[in-house]
Amino acid sequence: MPIQPTSKIWHNGNLIPWEQATIHVMSHVVHYGSSVFEGIRCYAQPHGSAVFRLPEHMQRLIDSAKIYRMALPYSLDELCAAVVDVIEANGVAPCYIRPIVIRGYGEIGVSPKGSPIEVYVANFPWGKYMPGNDGVDVCISSWNRLAPNTMPALAKAGANYMNSQLIRMEADINGYAEGIALDVNGLVSEGSGENIFIVRNGVLYTPTLANSALSGITRDSVLTIARHLGLAVTEQAIPRELLYIADEVFFTGTAAEVTPIRSIDRIQIADGKPGEITKKIADEFFSIANGLKPDRFGWLTPVKVNAVEPVTA
Ligand SMILES: Cc1ncc(COP(=O)(O)O)c(C=O)c1O
Repeated sequence: MPIQPTSKIWHNGNLIPWEQATIHVMSHVVHYGSSVFEGIRCYAQPHGSAVFRLPEHMQRLIDSAKIYRMALPYSLDELCAAVVDVIEANGVAPCYIRPIVIRGYGEIGVSPKGSPIEVYVANFPWGKYMPGNDGVDVCISSWNRLAPNTMPALAKAGANYMNSQLIRMEADINGYAEGIALDVNGLVSEGSGENIFIVRNGVLYTPTLANSALSGITRDSVLTIARHLGLAVTEQAIPRELLYIADEVFFTGTAAEVTPIRSIDRIQIADGKPGEITKKIADEFFSIANGLKPDRFGWLTPVKVNAVEPVTA
């Protein structure tokens, strides 16, 4: 989907014009993939708009930067304020928010020592990421997810998305909406940009973070909602074949939100329709995100922008 430009981008504490948020081709990040970033959604509310789980996303950004020894010159509160400032300056909601920390223009060579840390926050309109409402047809990727102690999977780093691109392109070329990657031990890990859940015999399963999966904020939201609904929930290693015989399978992510999976490798999941538990969780998720049910978990940060249209399931 083409990016729809807005007016301003937050850069190192200032709002600058969208078209001036450029970097030099010799910046460290261009050559060595040295960036960490976030993807956040701001949802329409009955009155105004609200960012979904803003502090949790910005804490993950801080954690990603810490893993890569990137000294961030801003506190959690300052980073959260930057997001609110840029959304309100642009007056665009609902929207997707992309904070990114890069190693900029300084020295050439792998060592990032002489390359300055630059922080940007952009926001722009963005609708659904996954097609349709009836569930998506996906495949198991021939690419594995990042092996432990190679590229840290808990850091949301730009470089990790080279692996994601391989998964996603292979799926596209073969006519699937997305690919599910296994970890190096052949256990289920995650999609190219989503965590994965299965339901079997009324129990909700998702892979552990030790299966090379990102600690998704939506994953955490779904686990919280499920526990609140009284469902049995387990984070555990999942063998590939359990996917095929599951009663329900769905993706979660800021982009994908809660997306049911209809088939995997052309094997239909149950009756091929979104399952009851998936629907219940998705309904709760969207109701809270869109302010239609009380924000009982404290997930919403209000912004002073009147939303144009809600993002719904
Ligand atoms: C590889 C990967 N896994 C999982 C997720 C889901 O994370 P979240 O729910 O925080 O968006 C994402 C999206 O950022 C991702 O890129």
